[in-house]
Amino acid sequence: MGFPLQQNSHDDSNPWRADFPIFSDAEKAVAFLDSAASAQKPTAVIAAMDGIMETHYANIHRGLYSFSQQSTAVYEAARHKVAQFIGAKTDNEIVFTRNTTEAINLVAASWGAAYLSKGDEVLITQMEHHANIVPWHMIAEKTGATLRVAPILDDGTLDMGAFESLISAKTKIVAFTHISNATGVINDAAELVRMIKAHSADIKVLIDGSQSIVHKAVDVETLGADFFVFTGHKLYGPSGIGVLWAREDTLNAMPPYQGGGDMIDTVSFTKGITYKNAPARFEAGTPAIIEAIGLGAAIDYLGTLGMNNIESHEMALYRYMRDEVNAIEGLTFYGDVADKAPVLSFTASWAHVSDIATILDQCGVSVRSGHHCAMPLMECLGIDGTIRASIGLYNTKADIDQFIAALHKAYKFLG
Ligand SMILES: Cc1ncc(COP(=O)(O)O)c(C=O)c1O
Repeated sequence: MGFPLQQNSHDDSNPWRADFPIFSDAEKAVAFLDSAASAQKPTAVIAAMDGIMETHYANIHRGLYSFSQQSTAVYEAARHKVAQFIGAKTDNEIVFTRNTTEAINLVAASWGAAYLSKGDEVLITQMEHHANIVPWHMIAEKTGATLRVAPILDDGTLDMGAFESLISAKTKIVAFTHISNATGVINDAAELVRMIKAHSADIKVLIDGSQSIVHKAVDVETLGADFFVFTGHKLYGPSGIGVLWAREDTLNAMPPYQGGGDMIDTVSFTKGITYKNAPARFEAGTPAIIEAIGLGAAIDYLGTLGMNNIESHEMALYRYMRDEVNAIEGLTFYGDVADKAPVLSFTASWAHVSDIATILDQCGVSVRSGHHCAMPLMECLGIDGTIRASIGLYNTKADIDQFIAALHKAYKFLG
């Protein structure tokens, strides 16, 4: 399905917008350009979450009564939808977590504790979100491993040569973002994986897909990494649910991350404790049942639109925004390369980013300003933050026009 926006990239009749009740109040007319932080929710997601609570909510996996069985079925159906969405081979490759942050912490704490030791190296990049830095820093401190950081080039893209030169016999895991949340720069993930695995197939690779899953069709088998993680709330699903993908043998060779109910086979003070295989092994306690179902509904919804249609729509709007913003003086753009995600990141010579963002808000435009949880990237760019305008599937040309008009106003006022 989808709609032919490509025929007229500035067509403002985005029929998808009506799927999002938050935009139904025309009076408010908010130009929401902060989807890279978290996306708005379509009716389909809200209805699915309400629906389970209104019809057959119960705790899952253990109850023999029908509410529990029905809830278990929709929860596991959500896992299946995620598996299909990212091209996983089986549902057992999908572990539900709270978010990307928890998924990376799980890998760092579980895989890291089991397989890292003094002298080993963990390689990340300069453009990572704190969620893909701090867990590695913590496990490196604990195990005596060393954290290495691949630099970026002046245009904000990864220095592939330097990246490759940092891979050595000491490298045990490489973790990098597919798309920078701060600049929208895209890493050629498949090529990076190929480069790493050419050094040694034993080096594990984790891809942070928090931003890519939203804008592009992802196939984990094609990417070839060992771990792929993302968060539900950016994918038009609810907060409180995220995904860790890994192959079954990888997951089952990792010790549990948290202990509790539902992740064990047996618990005995005399015979000891045995654990289930993945994914249950990593889903201790009552999981985010309603949220997982919401994520499943988001994936169904996106399936009716088509990821390729979403990408074309968003990139058409991005190109329009990038052209229009040229009319404003004194802006410096970061990660301003041709092939990138629909994320515009910039500073202005005439005002601090937070003052500009405040004026934009007064004009009904929601953008993010600051370091975007990527302080090392900001440090290397020599700035303390940028303004980030990020596009979601519900945005329209009118949103971009409102943003540009507000930016002109900010320049008039502060410039
Ligand atoms: C690239 C990237 N990684 C990790 C995260 C962390 O996501 P969450 O806060 O949902 O765990 C984000 C969120 O901004 C992100 O953009």
